Amino acid sequence: MLIDGKRFRSIWLADDARSVLIIDQRRLPFTVEVETIRSCRQMVTAIRDMHLRGAPLIGAAAAYGVYLVCLELADLGSAAFEKGLQRAIAELNASRPTAVNLRWALERQRTALAACASVKDKVGAARRTADAVAEEDVAICARLGRHGADLLAEMSAGLGGRPINVLTHCNAGWLATVDLGTVTSVIYEAAGRGIPLHVWVDETRPRNQGALTSWELGQNGVDNTVICDNAGGHLMQHGMVDVVIVGTDRTARNGDVANKIGTYLKALAAHDTRVPFYVALPSPSFDPDTPVGVGLIPIEERDSREVLTVRGYGDGHERTVQLFADGTTAANYAFDVTPARFVTGYITEHGVFGPDTLAPGLAGSRHG
Ligand code: MRU
Repeated sequence: MLIDGKRFRSIWLADDARSVLIIDQRRLPFTVEVETIRSCRQMVTAIRDMHLRGAPLIGAAAAYGVYLVCLELADLGSAAFEKGLQRAIAELNASRPTAVNLRWALERQRTALAACASVKDKVGAARRTADAVAEEDVAICARLGRHGADLLAEMSAGLGGRPINVLTHCNAGWLATVDLGTVTSVIYEAAGRGIPLHVWVDETRPRNQGALTSWELGQNGVDNTVICDNAGGHLMQHGMVDVVIVGTDRTARNGDVANKIGTYLKALAAHDTRVPFYVALPSPSFDPDTPVGVGLIPIEERDSREVLTVRGYGDGHERTVQLFADGTTAANYAFDVTPARFVTGYITEHGVFGPDTLAPGLAGSRHG
């Protein structure tokens, strides 16, 4: 998508194919800085410390992390290579626990590499697999966007020409994927078809991913308004939201949806006010191995300093400021789980499903 009119992806291989380039999202929306990732260890840090984020992008980054470690180990004999590879995969896998795309991408790499006889072949296979994960993500988002836009077109038809009001939480945008986004692919596709729309953007404390969503929508010409995290229920009660669409880090077999903390409260408000609540779900974010989400999907707990401070821009500098008194205790649950009973439908690359048709609809589709 566009930054200042120039096309970008969120991750790409450097021209010499020996390092990976990412946009350092910690600095957005104030500074667009491209970070060069030269080692798998550096990729683990980038995922864990959220230089990049969003479930599909975490998956692609992990796949490239495996390629980087293969390059690092390429001169070793096959026993030492295998040992180093398995250690690196374990480190990548532990970098963030909730987004299932991470495990999925690593499993893909493991399978691809296991089929190769020589170290040289493994290096080549790791690169091809990482590129495939990234390219497929773009294709998945494009297809998902078209199905979602069909849905918005139907809804918009009953609105007498006024813009359809979409509310979203966190950033399920192109920055959270390789390109296009999941929720935003629906929005960009609908806007491209000429459907009038406006987006309510939750600020999404504590990391304020709403700032990313608002910025990328603005950069790509979509009308949007930021609201504080507690405003959504009020807007829904007053008919100011036509549809909620959120992303997901992991959706369990029964349709329970793990997404950014606060998603569950939006689903409760949507249910009470009869506002349709949709989840943009690319198949790599579906976890058929976890039968039920509540209680079984691991919920990441992050450093309490993310709650106790806020990062912003002032006096010409990016800076972090303290919000609470010295010694304040804070808890930082990064995700919550919305039970399937509150979900109207799942917008996938294979079409839109309800909770009952989701697992059969996605059966067998997770490995491309
Ligand atoms: O902690 P983050 O910023 O990685 O959380 C991201 C989200 O919760 C997104 O909604 C989710 O990954 C879907 S992105 C297409």
